[in-house]
Amino acid sequence: MSRMISPTLGQCVCMLFCLVILVKAEDSGVNITIVDNAVATGAVYVCFTLLPHEYTAVCPDGSPPAYHFDKGAGDGANSWLVHLEGGAWCESTQSCVGRMKQALGSSIIMEKMYNFSGILDGRKELNPEFHDWNRIFVRYCDGSSFTGDVEEVDPATNLHFRGARIFQAVMQELLGKGMNNASNALLTGCSAGGLASILHCDNFRELMPATARVKCASDAGFFLHAKDYAGGNRSEDLFYKVVQLHRSAANLPPSCTSKMEPTLCFYPQYVVPQIQTPLFILNSAFDTYQIQHILTPRPADDPGLSFQRCSLNYEKCSPRQTIALKGFGLEFIITLARLGTCSSRGLFINSCFAHCQSTDGKKWYGDVAEKLGNKAMAKALGDWYHDRSGFQQIDFKHDLPQSCT
Ligand SMILES: *[C@@H]1O[C@H](CO)[C@@H](O)[C@H](O)[C@H]1NC(C)=O
Ligand SMILES: *[C@@H]1O[C@H](CO)[C@@H](O)[C@H](O)[C@H]1NC(C)=O
Ligand SMILES: *[C@@H]1O[C@H](CO)[C@@H](O)[C@H](O)[C@H]1NC(C)=O
Ligand SMILES: *[C@@H]1O[C@H](CO)[C@@H](O)[C@H](O)[C@H]1NC(C)=O
Repeated sequence: MSRMISPTLGQCVCMLFCLVILVKAEDSGVNITIVDNAVATGAVYVCFTLLPHEYTAVCPDGSPPAYHFDKGAGDGANSWLVHLEGGAWCESTQSCVGRMKQALGSSIIMEKMYNFSGILDGRKELNPEFHDWNRIFVRYCDGSSFTGDVEEVDPATNLHFRGARIFQAVMQELLGKGMNNASNALLTGCSAGGLASILHCDNFRELMPATARVKCASDAGFFLHAKDYAGGNRSEDLFYKVVQLHRSAANLPPSCTSKMEPTLCFYPQYVVPQIQTPLFILNSAFDTYQIQHILTPRPADDPGLSFQRCSLNYEKCSPRQTIALKGFGLEFIITLARLGTCSSRGLFINSCFAHCQSTDGKKWYGDVAEKLGNKAMAKALGDWYHDRSGFQQIDFKHDLPQSCT
């Protein structure tokens, strides 16, 4: 019944490469794990007999998804921290094809070892709250913040759009490795992964035991629905195209899509008020990515790339550009305030010109860590997670981006 095809030498070498991943051991590095259950049942890929195979949850190039898993121990043995990697989005066939040849589009190209730092660090002195938990860094390859779900493979490019299936497949595998018995769980992520940790927060909650303490923490994932400096719709147009291309609508929170356009449900501000699971929002009001990709207009709308220069160094901004920059930070804070009060929500909103602060060991914990109300990020999030104390702090003191190095 199965077709027998003789593999070429190249295919054999490739398969051996897939089976035996040779990596150099490093101190804080954690080995990659390729997701097994992404493989459809009955499909096998053996060196001397090449049988047709198909993965159901795959990266754009058809390769299986991957994650890095550092096992918990001691008090943390039953606690699980799942961190979703970021890396923007791909909104067109062309931009997704471009990612197929990068780690952000193919597990074949991903580094086989990843350094765990900040919230992921396994060393107590650098990460007192979560160091002994099971910590998982989920690789991001789909380009849709884990929301895509298209059965057909693009015939011209062989592209797959299946981010939501990747999320499911990874979660199923982790549940099978003991997460189904978790007493504590935290879904986190940064940038496009921080957005995914919001969009999938209630889904994550549902996968966990009812008795578990389950929360979510988004780092640099609160992308503001704002116009760019030229009055254009740069960010909304990008999200519109992402949601169309990956057919994300079915995987955005129904509590939002029942009320508004799917594109808008890619913006946390329209989703967060309906989320049931406790959520911590860690973000700068002057997030580097947002200043450079939401407020900064497309190059065609930015004469002489003048705003782009301003976005990289605000000392180069004209008075009018400075006002726009201040306006963005203010709009960010007002938008958060408008989310309404919710005692279970955590807020750590500073003014650093930064992106992904929780995985940066220096910013996360220690003497030079980013602090609000005298609390380092690690302490604020840890106290909030364990219900030792709430944390809702916004930096109102600065009206321009701070360097915070
Ligand atoms: C990572 O994988 C390599 C090769 O399989 C192995 O030698 C090494 O011990 C692994 N490292 C860890 C920390 O598990
Ligand atoms: C990972 O950490 C090791 C040792 O701490 C360091 O030598 C290496 O350069 C790091 N790798 C990356 C990709 O940052
Ligand atoms: C399940 O969790 C309980 C505590 O919550 C623990 O005692 C037990 O060892 C766990 N079981 C497995 C199979 O990990
Ligand atoms: C954004 O603006 C462009 C040009 O005005 C328009 O063609 C496009 O449809 C807009 N996109 C969205 C999502 O509104």
